[in-house]
Amino acid sequence: MRKQFAVIGNPIEQSRSPDLHHSFGQRLGIELDYSKRLAPLDGFAENVEQFFLDHGVGLNITVPFKEQAFALCNVLTERAKIAKAVNTLWVENGKLHGDNTDGQGLVDAIQALDWPLANSTILILGAGGATRGVVYPLCMAGAQKIVIANRTLSRAQQLVADLQPALPEAQLAACGLDQLDGQFDLVINATSASLSGEALQLPNTLQFNYAYEMAYGKPSSFLQQAQQRGVAHSEGYGMLVGQAIEAFAIWHGIRPDIKQFI
Ligand code: ATR
Repeated sequence: MRKQFAVIGNPIEQSRSPDLHHSFGQRLGIELDYSKRLAPLDGFAENVEQFFLDHGVGLNITVPFKEQAFALCNVLTERAKIAKAVNTLWVENGKLHGDNTDGQGLVDAIQALDWPLANSTILILGAGGATRGVVYPLCMAGAQKIVIANRTLSRAQQLVADLQPALPEAQLAACGLDQLDGQFDLVINATSASLSGEALQLPNTLQFNYAYEMAYGKPSSFLQQAQQRGVAHSEGYGMLVGQAIEAFAIWHGIRPDIKQFI
């Protein structure tokens, strides 16, 4: 029997993960089955347990279960501990291991675009789970300063206060979305505004060279504004591919080349 993998979420129909993992496997000559699992909102832990009892090898976790997956693990990577969320599970020596590959997926996607991260100043819009997952990998990739701007200022301040002890060398700061100002190399939209089709207004006093939208496949006022300014921009499909590649590398010990899939 082929090795079994799956992604668990609710809803799950929209997931592109099976297609990605099957195409990585095909390209690298690795046979695998990767399916979608719809877990009931109150039945996530049982669903994970059953998957591994049935000799499943690796699981990806998507909305809304990443925090629950974090809580289930016996062993966590450093980046998963900082993210407080897990999107990749596997069993080793009888213990459930968890990692979070989202942030490194973003870094890999940005580097595949040849956008510079070393010594960069970065503005991240939003202070939810998506932001929490990417700050540490961006710092590891050489970001010099990261400002987190949020509609609710106190949430950005709380996130900076939470992350700073784990990243004592990093220059982190918080501000309100209504206080956006200054010069940045890169702006990342990690709000859920694009998902809900809401507009995000960037003031003209805010200057930047690169714009990354974490969402993909939807119209984004953030990307529209980047385009109008003539700034290099990208939507989040590359990040999706990047996080899948990171998970694939953990499970199979071999890394597909991101540039062949974006
Ligand atoms: P995720 O886990 O995807 O980050 P989340 O934790 O619900 O989701 O966070 C959503 C983020 O998008 C928050 O930072 C939210 O701002 P608030 O903390 O002020 O709610 C931000 N957000 C959502 N809709 C927005 C909008 N229309 N304009 C600006 N920010 C928005």
